[in-house]
Amino acid sequence: MLTVIEQVLTPAEINEFRHQLQRGDWQDGALSAGARAASVKHNQQLSDHTEVARKLSHHLLQRLGSHPLFVSAALPERIYPPKFNRYRDGGHYGTHVDAAVMAFDEGRITLRSDLSVTLFLTDPDDYDGGELTIETGFGTQQIKLAAGDLVLYPSSSLHRVEPVTRGERVSSFFWVQSLVADDGKRSLLFDLDQAIQGLTPDRPPQDPELLRLTGVYHNLLRTWASV
Ligand code: NI
Repeated sequence: MLTVIEQVLTPAEINEFRHQLQRGDWQDGALSAGARAASVKHNQQLSDHTEVARKLSHHLLQRLGSHPLFVSAALPERIYPPKFNRYRDGGHYGTHVDAAVMAFDEGRITLRSDLSVTLFLTDPDDYDGGELTIETGFGTQQIKLAAGDLVLYPSSSLHRVEPVTRGERVSSFFWVQSLVADDGKRSLLFDLDQAIQGLTPDRPPQDPELLRLTGVYHNLLRTWASV
């Protein structure tokens, strides 16, 4: 399932992020890729160890942790601290699959990547190309979102970033280990949760059908979650 979540950051926050990122310490993205991925990766990444990277990453983690739609869609157990990249001058990232298992925090924490996330930080009018192209069971999808919007997609999917032929594309990207590893089961839970949320405003708090549906949601989650 691909899920788009709009306006995760406000325009003021995006400006602040872009301003901070402009004076960041950018490195060749190939340095942080595995041997196979490095040969197709042509972009730049912000060094993780700088104050700017830590501050922006922390800000995003806080926002995501309290974002109802993100939590409902991802059911996050662990989130890789958000990283930042930029593409320009024809920069692109050829077709690849993200690594299944990753370590962070100096190798102290291990994460299974269930979901990959890209948060767009550049207005789509400011650059050409740079679409995130994802191969799904329903064909190829091209994603290019407004600044502040993010897309969640299964880390198992083949994907690439098309060459940026004008301007630059700045994004944050990270991975989520979900309480529910299976994409199909997680999608069902998301649909059910969203349907319950949709019904809730029209019904009294103790509405019996709503209580039963909420029970079904939690009992499915209990069955499928690994903690
Ligand atoms: Ni990737």
